[in-house]
Amino acid sequence: MSDRLFIFDTTLRDGEQVPGCQLNTVEKIQVAKQLEALGVDVIEAGFPISSPGDFNSVVEISKAVTWPTICALTRAIERDIDVAAQALRFAKRKRIHTGIGTSDSHIRYKFNSSREEIIERAVQAVRYARRYTDDVEFYAEDAGRTDNEYLARVVEAVITAGATVVNIPDTTGYCLPSEYGAKIKYLMEHVDNIDKAIISTHCHNDLGMATANTIAGIMNGARQVEVTINGIGERAGNTALEEVAMIIKSHNTIDLDMNINTQKIYPASRMVSSLMNMPVQPNKAIVGRNAFAHSSGIHQDGVLKNVQTYEIIDPKDVGIDDSAIVLTARSGRAALKHRLHILGVEMDQDKLDKVYEDFLKLADKKKDITDDDILVLAGADRNDNHHIKLEFLQVTSGVGVRSVASLGLNIAGERFESAASGNGPVDAAIKALKKIIDRHMELKEFTIQAISKGSDDMGKVHMQVEYDGQMYYGFGANTDIIAASVEAYIDCINNFKR
Ligand code: KIV
Ligand code: ZN
Repeated sequence: MSDRLFIFDTTLRDGEQVPGCQLNTVEKIQVAKQLEALGVDVIEAGFPISSPGDFNSVVEISKAVTWPTICALTRAIERDIDVAAQALRFAKRKRIHTGIGTSDSHIRYKFNSSREEIIERAVQAVRYARRYTDDVEFYAEDAGRTDNEYLARVVEAVITAGATVVNIPDTTGYCLPSEYGAKIKYLMEHVDNIDKAIISTHCHNDLGMATANTIAGIMNGARQVEVTINGIGERAGNTALEEVAMIIKSHNTIDLDMNINTQKIYPASRMVSSLMNMPVQPNKAIVGRNAFAHSSGIHQDGVLKNVQTYEIIDPKDVGIDDSAIVLTARSGRAALKHRLHILGVEMDQDKLDKVYEDFLKLADKKKDITDDDILVLAGADRNDNHHIKLEFLQVTSGVGVRSVASLGLNIAGERFESAASGNGPVDAAIKALKKIIDRHMELKEFTIQAISKGSDDMGKVHMQVEYDGQMYYGFGANTDIIAASVEAYIDCINNFKR
């Protein structure tokens, strides 16, 4: 019988740490339910001591989700563990994930400590967490750069103390696949009580090797992988769930069972990208827009003769269904509701009515409505409580003339209007906006992305604005990209700490 590979998803913890990707609790519950439908074994729902928002999300996800184990992160500190246990009180299955840095640089510079003292703190933390649950995972932060002999001593000590899973993070994404695989092999061969725990991979993508390292870990005995949807995560991200799942499914030389329903991969990817306002690069493996698009003549010819000539995965296996009903202005509420359901979004009748109204307005402007459009519409009420709203915008621009914009804002119920000229329509509109909101703020990043292909497409705009020494992130989506840009700028301002 083949071994079981456990999938530990940390989209809502390591993934959510990315600046600009923060979700509110309702959105996190949506993602958690989508992960449950996808079949992940463990959902790392947050780091409860880090903020009241994170604490509350762990509580609510614990209530909302039935099958997966809910995991909460802590440092090797008793107070962290108490708070995590409190946040997990409603979970049907719960896990505490505690740990400490084990590399020499962490021991010396982060903790000003010694190797022996770190082992003592690790053991104390695991013992303390075991008071609350039998399912305790230990992470040896920066294990990628920790000397193997010492790491084996840490792992043996925490297993003796009661850890049931031991996580070996390549925190900085530094290891080569051969090195990371050898590290796992070393632990499997040198830790006396290794059969009492599962070894987990947790790889970062700083050098583009996260998935390769994860696979090397699996080939050498790891039986849990820590991953995120779309590979999101700090800096260059974490190992992508969809990549590991499809490697396991496609290669029968890796004989492992997993619980993932791969047909739910694409909807999960779209949902995370949409809610976190985090575009997926077009050439991203498995879920990128071009992942199954054959453009060269030779490839197209081959695919038409036999799809297996150039396609190693059937797009339907990851939930991409070209024959899915395309929604248009003639589609009814039921079709919209069904599409939302496939995308993992459930809503009550009132909200459905509102989204349907917006859907009809959008369908008037563009022919076919894509899944991304629908996800944007479903999340549009995020801005309902905004203090500042765009009431109208008019822009004239062209070649050989200076652009001019006039706009109206509603600020806490009061209307303000202004006009300005600029070297382009966005510049003019933002100058007009700044005449009303007179603060020293600077646009630092500005990305416009068309969702699909047509000239009638919705544009998504991501912005970063610096204000008062802090960076704020904003998002806007509209078939008019100037309006989307202004909405994104206003979203940034609405996020300013007042
Ligand atoms: O990358 C890392 O080391 C982590 C740990 C906190 C598990 O995310
Ligand atoms: Zn990490």
